[in-house]
Amino acid sequence: MKVAVIGVGQLGSDLVKVFDDVIPLTHSDIEVTDFSSCKILKDIRPDVIINTAAYHKTDECEDYPDKTLLVNSVGARNIAKIANEIDAINVYISTDYVFDGTKGSPYVENDVPNPINAYGISKYAGELFTRHISNKYYVIRVSSLFGAAGASGKGGNFVETMITKAKSGSELNVVNDITMSPTYTKDAAMAIKKIIEKNLPYGVYHVTNDGFCTWYVFAKAIFEIVGISAKLHPITSDKYPTKAKRPRNSSLSIEKIRSYGINMRHWKDALKAYLIEKGYI
Ligand SMILES: NC(=O)c1ccc[n+]([C@@H]2O[C@H](COP(=O)([O-])OP(=O)(O)OC[C@H]3O[C@@H](n4cnc5c(N)ncnc54)[C@H](OP(=O)(O)O)[C@@H]3O)[C@@H](O)[C@H]2O)c1
Repeated sequence: MKVAVIGVGQLGSDLVKVFDDVIPLTHSDIEVTDFSSCKILKDIRPDVIINTAAYHKTDECEDYPDKTLLVNSVGARNIAKIANEIDAINVYISTDYVFDGTKGSPYVENDVPNPINAYGISKYAGELFTRHISNKYYVIRVSSLFGAAGASGKGGNFVETMITKAKSGSELNVVNDITMSPTYTKDAAMAIKKIIEKNLPYGVYHVTNDGFCTWYVFAKAIFEIVGISAKLHPITSDKYPTKAKRPRNSSLSIEKIRSYGINMRHWKDALKAYLIEKGYI
């Protein structure tokens, strides 16, 4: 099975490591917004295309809705069309931000999306293009990623930001009223591989580590595991206004993949593994 991975960033670099026959496509190899550039996939003729490419600086997306829709939605449409032409399985990586955050428990795959910011709207449009065009597809929603490569599109990840700021002695005010499912990209990559290799029915899947927490609880866990005494304070999100609205609860249920025998470790164990991989402990 030949796999093409579009975007060799935080998740893409771990995806490239888990497959045997894999073609990594960096941004200089392919521009998803340009249909003619996507034709490189016709020469490669992969059995599976995994599209991790995204414009995902959530606040910046509010200022550049055209670029946001072009990369995350039109890009997904281009890849879906090419995937059909070469009869490849199209895997679109999506986000927990397709939900509005008003549900009081983790979102399941068939909860109705209702995105509340430009990024979430563009990713949901990307999901819809994928679902309505692709003959064979998986839409895989991941959330709050941390991986060794750091998100190139975001300039790192939350874990790195917290450690750097704590080491510099900064006061850290972190929101304690926004709940999400932290996800180690190494674990997500393995789970995505299993979904494909097990030939699960085409459709939407949530892939996160087990459990959920607020950003404050996540930060506290980082400092406890690394053994840093940080000046960490819980705040409410009204004290930290951002350009883009964020869902209050974007935790994702992983019961669907579990029902197919794909088990994810708890986010705290995944965090420990990440901190070991990065040499912090
Ligand atoms: N990071 C998170 O917390 C998070 C949460 C939920 C969902 N997701 C989704 O997960 C996926 C992977 O995220 P990530 O953290 O791995 O992101 P990332 O590190 O920024 O990786 C994305 C990659 O896509 C490439 N890319 C960007 N625009 C492109 C374009 N127009 N054409 C071709 N390639 C392009 C980037 O290359 P350059 O950097 O060279 O432009 C980068 O290598 C994304 O689809 C994102 O929406 C992420």
